[in-house]
Amino acid sequence: MDRRPELNKHLDRDTFLKWYWLKEELVRFCKENGIPSTGGKQEVAERVALFLDTGETGRGDLKGEKAKHAGSPRGKSVSVTPDSIIEPDALCSQALRSFFKEQLGGSFSFSVPFQKWLKDNAGKTYGDAVEAYREFKKAGIRGEKEIGRQFEYNTYVRDFFLNNKGRSLSDAIACWKYKKSLPGNNRYEDADLAALQDNEGSEIPVTDYQLIIAQTRSLAEISSDPIPVMANVSALLFNSMPDVNWAGFYTVSGEALLLGPFQGKAACVKIQKGRGVCGTAWAEDRIQVVPDVHAFPGHIACDSESRSEIVLPVHRDGQVAAVLDIDSPVTDRFGKADAEGLALLVRAIEEIIY
Ligand code: SME
Repeated sequence: MDRRPELNKHLDRDTFLKWYWLKEELVRFCKENGIPSTGGKQEVAERVALFLDTGETGRGDLKGEKAKHAGSPRGKSVSVTPDSIIEPDALCSQALRSFFKEQLGGSFSFSVPFQKWLKDNAGKTYGDAVEAYREFKKAGIRGEKEIGRQFEYNTYVRDFFLNNKGRSLSDAIACWKYKKSLPGNNRYEDADLAALQDNEGSEIPVTDYQLIIAQTRSLAEISSDPIPVMANVSALLFNSMPDVNWAGFYTVSGEALLLGPFQGKAACVKIQKGRGVCGTAWAEDRIQVVPDVHAFPGHIACDSESRSEIVLPVHRDGQVAAVLDIDSPVTDRFGKADAEGLALLVRAIEEIIY
C-alpha cells in the first residue's frame, strides 16, 4: 500500500484529497502558508485543496471580495449560474459553495461523493450538479450512514494509535480494511494486527479456502442439513490445515453452546454464553483470533496441546446460531489469510444450511 505523503506545498490536490488528514495537520499547513485556518475541518481542507491547485490562499473569499474562482480553477473572474459549465478540476471554492447554498439551502456541503461527481462530470452544467446533489440526498449518500462510517473510521484510527505507538497510518488503514472485511463490529482490537502479519514469512502454507468452499458446496448437493455439512467442513479443515489439532462446531442451544460435529480429541460439551473463546465469539458476535490461548482470560482448554485458536460466529437470520472453532498446537498459528478465508467459508455455510 502507498505511504501517506508529507503534506507540503508541492503535493498535488488529487493526492491530497485521497488521504486522511488530522485537522491539526491541516491547520498547521494553513498557518505555514498564510491560509486562513478558521472554520470546520471540511472548510479548512477545501482551502488547502484550493491552495495546492492554484496557489491561492482563499483570503479574498473570506474578506467578502467578489469570488474569482467560481467554477473555473485558474482564476478567471466568473460568477456561477445554473448554466455555467463545470470545468475540468472544478474547485470547492467559496464562490461555488455560495452558489450551491443559494440553490440547495444552508445545509449544503461538499461531500466526497459530490466532489467526485463534479470531477467526473466536467462539461455538464452547475444546474446538473444541483440535480445530482438532490439525488445524492434522496439516496441517503452523505446521510447518517456516511457520517457514521466516517466516525467509525476516525475512532478506529485513534484507538489504533493509542494502542500502537510508532506504527504508521498505512498499518492503521490495513487493519481497518481487514476489520471491515470481517463480520461484526468495526472497533479496534489487538487481534486486528493479524492484518499486518503476511503469511509470506510464515512457514505454515496458506490453506486453499476456495477449494474447501467448493468441496463443501459439492458435498452439500446431496444434503444441506446442518449436521452432514458441519461434519464434512470439520473433516475438510482438519485434514487440509497444517498444524491444527481440533476443528469443529458448537451450536447455540438456549443460553449455551452445545458441542456439534468436529474432528480432534473429545471436547467439552457445553459452553455458557460469554465463556471461553467460543462463548466470547458468540456474546460479542465477532471473530476471535487468539495468538496465545494462555493469555486469553477464561480460555477453556479441551486439549492441553492447544496454543492458539480462531473462532468465527455462524449466523442464521442475523443471529449467531453456531460457532466454528479451530485450535492449533502452534502459537500464533492463524493470520489474516486464515481469518479472511474462513470468513468466506462461514458465509458459504450460512447460505447452504440456513
Ligand atoms: N477453547 C475453547 C473451547 C472449545 S475447545 O477448544 C474445542 C474456548 O475457550 O471456548
